[in-house]
Amino acid sequence: MTPILKTLKEKDTTCKPVWFMRQAGRYLPEFREIRKTNQNFVDLCINPNLVEKITLQPIQRFKIDAAIIFSDILMIPYALGQKVTFQKDQGPIISNFDEKKFFGTSEEEFINKLNPVYEAIKKTRKSLLLSKSLIGFAGAPWTLIYYMFNIKNKGSFFIKNHSDIILRVIEKLNVLINIHLRKQKEAGADIVQIFDSWAGLLKNEELNKYCILPNKKIISYCKRNNIPNICFPKGLKDKYKEFVEQVLPDGISIDHDIEPEWALNNLKETCIQGGMDPRILIEQEEKKVLHTVDKYLEVFHNCPYIFNLGHGILPRTNPELIKKITERVKERK
Ligand code: CP3
Repeated sequence: MTPILKTLKEKDTTCKPVWFMRQAGRYLPEFREIRKTNQNFVDLCINPNLVEKITLQPIQRFKIDAAIIFSDILMIPYALGQKVTFQKDQGPIISNFDEKKFFGTSEEEFINKLNPVYEAIKKTRKSLLLSKSLIGFAGAPWTLIYYMFNIKNKGSFFIKNHSDIILRVIEKLNVLINIHLRKQKEAGADIVQIFDSWAGLLKNEELNKYCILPNKKIISYCKRNNIPNICFPKGLKDKYKEFVEQVLPDGISIDHDIEPEWALNNLKETCIQGGMDPRILIEQEEKKVLHTVDKYLEVFHNCPYIFNLGHGILPRTNPELIKKITERVKERK
């Protein structure tokens, strides 16, 4: 059993494994090198040879306990007929939501389009040491809808006025996300993480139907199918407690708004992951960064805890610092 699985499933408190969200990405020169000659991001995500290579890049540099498959949460909208492109420094650009295309896509078509992701997982699992976990992932329905409906440019008025279609889309996404996670597990991922990066945008009255219930359905499915799981409902503040009590994931990834002591007292029954603000890695000197690492390790000393950040590694982060943090976790555990 890998250190992450021991921590997550057996509530082991001695391993203190470590990995990083966005550990394969733009802060690594070797990733930027591949990206230079592969301008189309989606094409890159459906190229199993390159996906394997990028997924293993951080493993070759650092003594981390997991690889996360190089892909994107927007591969689901892509598989459902939306055009997804990434412009440098601009974030994703997604073609308009097309109801006919969305509801017209069969499960078989969906799986076929995402098959290269599963092929990449199979290949990567073969070349990854058995002591390392391979993490698969998906976006939660609400966070996918945020991008699929371009909510950024529409705001809360739109959400309020489109609850019927949003609920119908969530229902179909729930089914397809489950399939996507199961296929990743079957291909060799031993853990999955569910990203609800925009959960914090929801109003109180929307939280249950758009975030908690859909995540709960996914986690129940994972449990029925023996898929170890971690949820990341970013931005929920004190509602992290309600989320954990309702959804009951194996692990809960906290963001940098959550005080570690608060998490310790309020999210007790669950394995906790992450928390440290990724901005510190850019803004502060090494000594202070390592001091903050120590703080997280101290607070969670007697708990099943997976070291990670409160969000993904930022592009301007120095890879050497990731190395130092990893070493510190291994020394102090
Ligand atoms: O290393 C890993 O974590 C694995 C690969 C991974 C990517 N995206 C690669 C990527 C994972 C797990 C994701 C998840 C993801 N994608 C999330 C959830 C986590 C989070 O950050 O909140 C979200 C919201 C997305 C959507 C997305 N993809 C955005 C907003 C962007 C552009 C801006 C950004 O944050 O980078 C992407 C592009 C993307 N996904 C890149 C990478 C390496 C950068 C692509 C490039 O320009 O080279």
